Amino acid sequence: MAATAAFALATQLAIANAHASPAPHAAAGPAGAQAGTSYTAAEVLAGVKKNSTAANQVNTKPHINTMTRAQNVNVYQVATGVYAYSSGMAIDDDGSDPDPDPDHQGDTTFHDSNGKALAAHHVPFFVLGDDCWDRKTPCPHFFYKEHGMSGRQFALMFYNGKVIGSIFGDTQTANDQTTSDNDSRELGEASVKAAQLLGIPSSGTTGGVDNGVTVVMFSGPSWVVNGANADLNNNAQALVQKALDTLGAAMAGTNPPPGGTLFEAESGTLSAGGTFDDNHSGFTGTGFANTANAAGAYVDIPVTVSAAGTKTLTIRYSDGTSGARPATISVNGTSHGTLDFPVTADWDTWSTVSISVPLNAGANTIRIAGTTSGGAANIDSVTVS
Ligand code: GCU
Ligand code: CA
Repeated sequence: MAATAAFALATQLAIANAHASPAPHAAAGPAGAQAGTSYTAAEVLAGVKKNSTAANQVNTKPHINTMTRAQNVNVYQVATGVYAYSSGMAIDDDGSDPDPDPDHQGDTTFHDSNGKALAAHHVPFFVLGDDCWDRKTPCPHFFYKEHGMSGRQFALMFYNGKVIGSIFGDTQTANDQTTSDNDSRELGEASVKAAQLLGIPSSGTTGGVDNGVTVVMFSGPSWVVNGANADLNNNAQALVQKALDTLGAAMAGTNPPPGGTLFEAESGTLSAGGTFDDNHSGFTGTGFANTANAAGAYVDIPVTVSAAGTKTLTIRYSDGTSGARPATISVNGTSHGTLDFPVTADWDTWSTVSISVPLNAGANTIRIAGTTSGGAANIDSVTVS
């Protein structure tokens, strides 16, 4: 098949797939992780900042930075059902001696799956207002009950180049409680454990940081984290990459194949034992190459360019195992090195790796050969740009 025809067919099938599956802009639930690229913390944080615009602002009256008391904190819906704010961090050490918080309540609003108060030294949690301070509906502030959030709701927390998973664990005292100097408009309090994981001084009396913490909250029941106090930290961290990928894809809108001229792996040939499969979703064209699980197993993909020159090959692949599937990239029989092909969230999640290689005018053969006993990752396509 001519390259142009193959590309047109791939485009049609990609559109057909989009109609058959949930809309790419659907709520960023785990199902949204159909989209395929693996995102870094820096990429997602940049997207969050970019989407923190006036048009996406949820609150109409400002929240209070719980450290500086400045009324300059806003909450933005950065993707459907995903809410972000940046503030300082004050340290909540509820339920934990011997480092008492001046406002120590001895208990958290929400509990672990066994009904025990959350342990601030063990569970990374963040704190939101207990009520709508203005007692209005809809609330002029971000009030979690109006946004599909409940206890143990998952959030990503970013600070100083780090990202962690955390859960909604406690609330700022409600407006109807007059005995406290707390204020339900405050944003930025989080547990000792959250501070420790982010490298923020974690003392309940002297710890915290004035600014620079970004909390990105994922609403909906599928983002509620379950577990006992002893497990909740691990369970939250286990969701971090999925949350980065889901949000990264939601903010990118879709998961388009990379720009350039695309050549489907299924137009190529496989070494012994390989098959062209379609039993995982998210591929372009009619399927993907599944090489045999053996060192040296390869797929050869024909690639045509009009003029000779150094080009970037972007290989779209999936590796749903727990280990990378390194593969050597050869062009017309000459090796140009080995790429790592890091793991993706599952076999339905696609990522890309790139390499710069010289191509001849006209036909070329790209060989992707696994170097380990697993063979190559599943290969969807090669794009030349
Ligand atoms: C699974 C998966 C395949 C993949 C294979 C592998 O069987 O369904 O698509 O190619 O693992 O480990 O290579
Ligand atoms: Ca395989």
